[in-house]
Amino acid sequence: MGRYEDFFRKSIEDPAGFWGEAAKEITWFEPYEKVLDDSNPPFYKWFPGGKMNTCYNALDRHVEGGRADQVALIYDSPVTGTIRKFTYRELLDKVSRFAGVLRSLGVEKGDTVVIYMPMIPEAAIAMLACARLGAVHSVVFGGFAAHELAIRIDDAKPKVVVSASGAREVTRVIEYKPLLDRALEEAGHKPRSCVIYQRDFVKADMTPGRDHDWEELVQKAEPTECVPVDATDPLYILYTSGTTGIPKGVVRDNGGHAVALRWSLEYIYGVKPGEVYWAASDVGWVVGHSYIVYGPLITGCTTILYEGKSVGTPDPGAFWRVISEHDVKVLFTAPTAFRAIKKEDPNGEYLKKYDLSGFRYLFLAGERLDPDTYHWASDLLKKPVIDHWWQTETGWPITANCMGIEEFPIKPGSSTKPVPGYNVKILDPDGKELPRDKEGIVAIKLPLPPGTLPTLWKKDDRFVESYMKPFPGYYYTSDGGFIDSDGYVWIMGRMDDVINVSGHRLSTGEMEEVVAKHPAVAECAVVGVSDSLKGQLPVGLVVLKAGVDGDPKEIVSDLVRMVRDQIGPIACFKQAVVVKRLPKTRSGKILRGTIRKIADCEEYRMPSTIDDPAILGEIEEALKTIGYARKD
Ligand code: COA
Ligand code: AMP
Repeated sequence: MGRYEDFFRKSIEDPAGFWGEAAKEITWFEPYEKVLDDSNPPFYKWFPGGKMNTCYNALDRHVEGGRADQVALIYDSPVTGTIRKFTYRELLDKVSRFAGVLRSLGVEKGDTVVIYMPMIPEAAIAMLACARLGAVHSVVFGGFAAHELAIRIDDAKPKVVVSASGAREVTRVIEYKPLLDRALEEAGHKPRSCVIYQRDFVKADMTPGRDHDWEELVQKAEPTECVPVDATDPLYILYTSGTTGIPKGVVRDNGGHAVALRWSLEYIYGVKPGEVYWAASDVGWVVGHSYIVYGPLITGCTTILYEGKSVGTPDPGAFWRVISEHDVKVLFTAPTAFRAIKKEDPNGEYLKKYDLSGFRYLFLAGERLDPDTYHWASDLLKKPVIDHWWQTETGWPITANCMGIEEFPIKPGSSTKPVPGYNVKILDPDGKELPRDKEGIVAIKLPLPPGTLPTLWKKDDRFVESYMKPFPGYYYTSDGGFIDSDGYVWIMGRMDDVINVSGHRLSTGEMEEVVAKHPAVAECAVVGVSDSLKGQLPVGLVVLKAGVDGDPKEIVSDLVRMVRDQIGPIACFKQAVVVKRLPKTRSGKILRGTIRKIADCEEYRMPSTIDDPAILGEIEEALKTIGYARKD
């Protein structure tokens, strides 16, 4: 039996034994009573009774254990021309003081704190400070608009919001504070205080009594100790797109999360304590939580917090510069970042300027890795390029080529095999397991491994309804795919209204809700069409109310503005077309899948339930006017 087979079999047959062994890498203040409590499915508990602190595991124990002078975090910001390094000792000092700031503002164990920050070290410091106090953070990605922030504030009900005056998006300055102010006006819940980090290129106006300056508070703050929490206590909430306008508040616990991430760094990514690991993502996404902040620090690695892009900051050699300058062993990013480099520097001229001899692996996730991009990156780098599949809900990879266990030959288009702990199955719509090579619904047999979502924030019912009820005994991933005869998993795409734009997860249903608010719109559909750079892009089809005689161009530009304003620029909603009617089933369901296939020039079967087949021709003509559905 190969090493992978051995690991995988143990993890499924004896999860308690397997994860109990992995848990030895974590420092526990008090031992757990058992590894897995499976007495109340589908609510599984990992390491119940155990007391620990995630921040202690990420910082204090490394300072106490000989890593005090090792660099913990490198802030590399081409947009501000800054590189700053923090040793574990320095980072601990900053985090424990900021924990003191939060405590002085009344934050205690179990309270929530919303963090709306650009990619600056203070974002990671704020997250770790919450963890130190046993408070629950909820980071909101900076590219979301005020309305999205307001929705999250209303759901998480934070005592304090931590934010910054702004960010630099390549050459533009984005002011965060006006967005925060608008969100706080809109939200029903009013936090007691806001802490604002003032950046030197943009100053925020402060509301007296509510807003406090980060630096001023830190000057007065006392270092604060770690508060022991239960392994099963929440560490954070991270909102992610579902199929409606109400995002899902994915909860992460403390103990299982620390165990799983520590294990994943070594066995999936093949990284050892002391090495440099870089996730080029954003702290607002799950990748940022797991692999910019918690995973590498819990492991005792050096992590990189990069405030820049793969291109334009200043050129397509940006990633190669960071890898060679900081001796990065492993880079993790989204395929779209590499497609952007490929577009600007197809022959890899910029790579020639840098020494990447110490670089080991490139890991890609967040969206499908198309074989073209895989081959381009792999031919250029001459290092393993590894596609791996996961979700905000799982918090760490479900399928991967586990470089710390056993390296398998790569099949471009497949994310290799299930990671130990994940019993991946392919089901038919009735929940029957399908044989190898048959495409169906990807599900994971319960229990899920540690670190995965125990529930949705204050919504156990929605957790059960969304993930556990569709196929009892399994976690429903919402992705379709198959497992081939060699046991490789092929993820073919979402089966719901979720799309991936530049590796960012977005809901077309939510965009439809915004578009439908326009007074001239009778009904609409938003579908995700293929895009060679961003993976997918949303496109709207709108039917106008009878009697509306406004200029369709103006209406479309209103819609584009509305989505940008309400959801944010990252929605990339830039195209819509007015149609006379939408194709529907006889029961009135809009045939979004068929519209998408027409736009992408894919073969489609005439749906047997369509009420009038002639509509499809009209849709094709309309899509052609905005550059889609063209076979040439
Ligand atoms: N704050 C404010 N605005 C933001 C933002 C932020 N944090 N991030 C992105 N935006 C804006 C962009 O400026 C852009 O605005 P525009 O429409 O005015 O041009 C818009 O949102 C769309 O952004 P994006 O799709 O990211 O395009 P881009 O051209 O700025 O960057 C890539 C392209 C490929 C370099 C970038 O998308 C990328 O690096 N993606 C990787 C994603 C990732 O890390 N995913 C997590 C899983 S690994
Ligand atoms: P997120 O929650 O933002 O991480 O998005 C999760 C979704 O992104 C998954 O459900 C998939 O649809 C998609 N995804 C992530 N990684 C991959 C991958 N390696 N291959 C194909 N799809 C992926």
